[in-house]
Amino acid sequence: MRYSVANWKMNLPPEGIAAYCAALAAAAGDGPRLVVAPPFPYLHEIRGLAVAGQNCAEKASGAFTGEISAAMLRERGAQFVILGHSERRTLFGETDAQIARKLAIALENGLTPILCIGEDLNVRDSGRAEAFLADQLKAAAAGVTNGGDVVIAYEPIWAIGTGRNATGKLCAETTQAVRESVRRFWPERYENVPVLYGGSVTPDNVTELVAEGEIDGFLVGGASLDSGKFLAIHRALGKE
Ligand code: 13P
Repeated sequence: MRYSVANWKMNLPPEGIAAYCAALAAAAGDGPRLVVAPPFPYLHEIRGLAVAGQNCAEKASGAFTGEISAAMLRERGAQFVILGHSERRTLFGETDAQIARKLAIALENGLTPILCIGEDLNVRDSGRAEAFLADQLKAAAAGVTNGGDVVIAYEPIWAIGTGRNATGKLCAETTQAVRESVRRFWPERYENVPVLYGGSVTPDNVTELVAEGEIDGFLVGGASLDSGKFLAIHRALGKE
């Protein structure tokens, strides 16, 4: 299965949610799966498309002001949840252990986690990126006992919102390395695990990114706020 995932972050599409969803739903067809991750209060406004939460709590319920549980996301129609996004890790201090607990609770509640992993520029430049990504995967896998699908999104921190996307070659090599790490450290998830790429994906660079034939789709931030740009990225993935 391949995916085009729109992560709106804390933004809304300027064209309006209804117009955005109508444009995407009309194009959904038999291509890769279109998934939209809006801010929490807008989950129920996403029509005709699969819905993802941008995060969930690591606990099932209780006195956790400001948190949203996996069960609540499910109840509001989400089938997916983005977990371990680098903005959650770096800006909000989420740890590998917390992400592992979130992954487990998401799966227990029937959500498909979109697990984000990614290295910063220091790690990349020091040649340790593949080992770093393997460690993030291992740490996340440690909390999981339930079955269910998992999607992995490789999002190098140096490419997020910077306009500096990974080259097609780097992206393909890293995707292969991520798959190999899943095979070694999380063998029960290996079969057909989709590995997406995210980081400054636009209609202009998408052709180079898909050319190597390794990635299973995209997790798109900035360019996903415009239905036309997001659809152009989606179409570059071709038919399922
Ligand atoms: P940009 O596409 O804005 O770089 O964001 C990528 C991202 O973080 C998606 O989750």
